[in-house]
Amino acid sequence: PVSVFENPKIASINVANRIAELIKSKQANNAPAVLGLATGVTPIAVYAELVRLHKEEGLSFKNVITFNLDEYYPMAPTAAQSYVTFMNENLFDHIDIDKKNVHIPDGTLALEDIPAFCLDYEKKIGDLGGLDIQILGIGRTGHIGFNEPGSAPNSGTRLVTLDDLTRRDAARDFGGKSFVPTKAITMGIGTIFKAREIILMAWSRKKASIIKKAVEGEISGEVPATFLQLSDHVEFILDAPAASDLT
Ligand code: F6R
Repeated sequence: PVSVFENPKIASINVANRIAELIKSKQANNAPAVLGLATGVTPIAVYAELVRLHKEEGLSFKNVITFNLDEYYPMAPTAAQSYVTFMNENLFDHIDIDKKNVHIPDGTLALEDIPAFCLDYEKKIGDLGGLDIQILGIGRTGHIGFNEPGSAPNSGTRLVTLDDLTRRDAARDFGGKSFVPTKAITMGIGTIFKAREIILMAWSRKKASIIKKAVEGEISGEVPATFLQLSDHVEFILDAPAASDLT
């Protein structure tokens, strides 16, 4: 289903409230809440609202375990552009999550150690009973996570090559495209699919054409987000400009 909100702020508060309700219902059962998280501009207001709920309304993250979708490769966690830095600055440094419950693909691994790391990432998620909820943005290539065009629907966590358009879109953060890593470690489409609930968010007119393809287009690895059409537990949360090309 597609839900269109008046603006990203209202939509983000809605998503944050759903995450908060999940966390609280798990707390009531003494169970962990397992969250799949995204970086980028899109989820920033969701994280800001979760921080507010923690600071002003006592929402605790003590029972929360997180798995981020992706990280550039290679990437030092301390680098300004790392997704570790992003998550710390936007969420983890401001809530009471136990940092040992935070998982982000490791951009410092030796190449030969990546396959084992990726299998272990999948196993950790599986051992916890899977992701309760996965938050997604969408890239202009149609990527979810860093599953670029050509990704298989059953793909798992792995090292991938970033699309040129993705690197161009990231150029501003890195001070030029040539400084954007060519690779990333990302959860696969298959990993994302196993989440019990998937929420894809998109804001602004810039995302309208890829949202039209993702929601209404032919299902194909050329637009990886189209695979979400095959899921019965995905929701597209849009603002009006991002939804403006939908029929
Ligand atoms: C980020 C991620 C990407 C972004 C996408 C949109 O962890 O996996 O798929 O969600 O590139 O990025 P923004 O939100 O910056 O437009």
